[in-house]
Amino acid sequence: MAGKKYLTDMDEWKALFDHYNKIKGIHLRDLFNDDAQRGDRFSIEDGGLFFDYSKNRVTSETMELLVNLARACNLKEETERMFTGEKINETENRAVLHIALRNRSSVPIYVDGKNVMTDIEAVLQRMKLVSEKIRNMQWPGFSGKPVKNIINIGIGGSDLGPYMVCEALKYYSKRDLNVYFVSNVDGTHLIETIRDLNPEETLFIIASKTFTTQETMLNARTARKWIVQHAGSDQAVSRHFLALSTNKSEVERFGISPSNMFEFWDWVGGRYSLTSAIGLSIMISIGYENFIQMLEGFHAMDKHFRERPFHENIPVIMALLGIWYNNFFNFHTHAVLPYEQYLHRFPAYLQQGDMESNGKSITKDGLVVDYATGPVIWGEPGTNGQHAFYQLMHQGTQIIPADLIGFIKPLNNDYEHHDVLISNMFAQAEAFAFGKTEKEVRSEGVEERLVPYKTFPGNRPVNTILFDKLTPYSLGKLIAMYEHKIFTQGVIWNIYSFDQWGVELGKVLAGRIYKEILGEPMGEHDSSTANLIKRYRRIRFE
Ligand code: F6P
Repeated sequence: MAGKKYLTDMDEWKALFDHYNKIKGIHLRDLFNDDAQRGDRFSIEDGGLFFDYSKNRVTSETMELLVNLARACNLKEETERMFTGEKINETENRAVLHIALRNRSSVPIYVDGKNVMTDIEAVLQRMKLVSEKIRNMQWPGFSGKPVKNIINIGIGGSDLGPYMVCEALKYYSKRDLNVYFVSNVDGTHLIETIRDLNPEETLFIIASKTFTTQETMLNARTARKWIVQHAGSDQAVSRHFLALSTNKSEVERFGISPSNMFEFWDWVGGRYSLTSAIGLSIMISIGYENFIQMLEGFHAMDKHFRERPFHENIPVIMALLGIWYNNFFNFHTHAVLPYEQYLHRFPAYLQQGDMESNGKSITKDGLVVDYATGPVIWGEPGTNGQHAFYQLMHQGTQIIPADLIGFIKPLNNDYEHHDVLISNMFAQAEAFAFGKTEKEVRSEGVEERLVPYKTFPGNRPVNTILFDKLTPYSLGKLIAMYEHKIFTQGVIWNIYSFDQWGVELGKVLAGRIYKEILGEPMGEHDSSTANLIKRYRRIRFE
């Protein structure tokens, strides 16, 4: 950041504050009344993607001031540092190169003087071979029967991304294969997943960047026992286990041979890894060609983000709007509402993407921030959410900016349903933005005492993200759009978006408590935790 000035001391930040004080009371109704072209002026089209941000509490001046802030925070320079493999993840001393995984151009990308594109392509080709074998029913299990059940065991980025995409692209999947995801260390997850499956026909993919994650390794060991027990021999492991990891020695220690391991690298962050080998379950499900189409979509958005000027750059605008609400209006949560059943895991996926990246409070200069950083991300598919929490969004005391995501052409040709779905999406955006005035309520002849209850204040900000169709390509674009939004916000907040030290403490404490539960003498604990451990032990072992 220029001269290492604290964000809130920057002139651009102060200018935004002055501006906020001037326009904070403006209603979207007035902004639209004053400008008949607003819907056109505040929207961007990008090859099959229409991004409408007109229903935000901004004027042209707001956008200009926000763009000035992005410039002053060196967004362009920071973006180049990421794209060119600089070690911008400084607390882990790593480059951040998920963009290389989907680099469909012939431009090389170097880390420590080595062109990483060669290794990326080699792994992609190995993934192609194995996924084709499995899809062609040419991967026999221990009895000779081909495998048809694929279970990805992983957690966090080694689960949420591939799971979300397999669901999102289910329409394109091979229907005689069943792809499952097991993440929770709660044994129920694995037990319920395998209970009706035939081990002879079941292949496990152990997905873990570190290959040391407690939950994943325990689930993997239980799965291994299940296979070995049914096969009657350890030999079966080689037919029933693949590994996706950066940690070759741990993979071998588990008993999976290097020929069954698909590698990725420390410069791929867990939550940014679905286009690496971590996406093997996706490739098995939708096939190599579709996987490549998805990479093309990611790459198109990477180019858009890197090349487009800020004022027509969708991820940058999304990020700036998020900062406008989070830091100036104090709206600290953000809803992601896909009007598309196939995207039902998208909000959960984004929770990790956004909250593990920007849930930080120490700046890159080691100072404690005096401003809000990452918002709480949450959501559900429409129209389900409408019948659950939209009440609060429309009339509650908190204002929740939202992204409404939809697709014009339905995949299942179910126009009767689809037209209803999308009319709800547009209607909700309209209702959030404009609400319903007391005057309008009265004009409907509503009994006077009910008028306040039936009034909608509106002025709730909404982005409408409308793609022509849900395809591997458009999904890739959508995901990359959010990744770069997260990156942009991290740059402006001057925090490290690519580490996750905040997950460590719980892991260490759990390790200690686990031993105590099993009978080791109890160490120092507060009275609440000590009581819980004692009670658990007493009833567990009675
Ligand atoms: O929750 C912390 C975390 O490190 C995530 O960042 C990561 O996606 C997840 O655990 C799983 O890690 P691994 O892929 O190494 O098992």
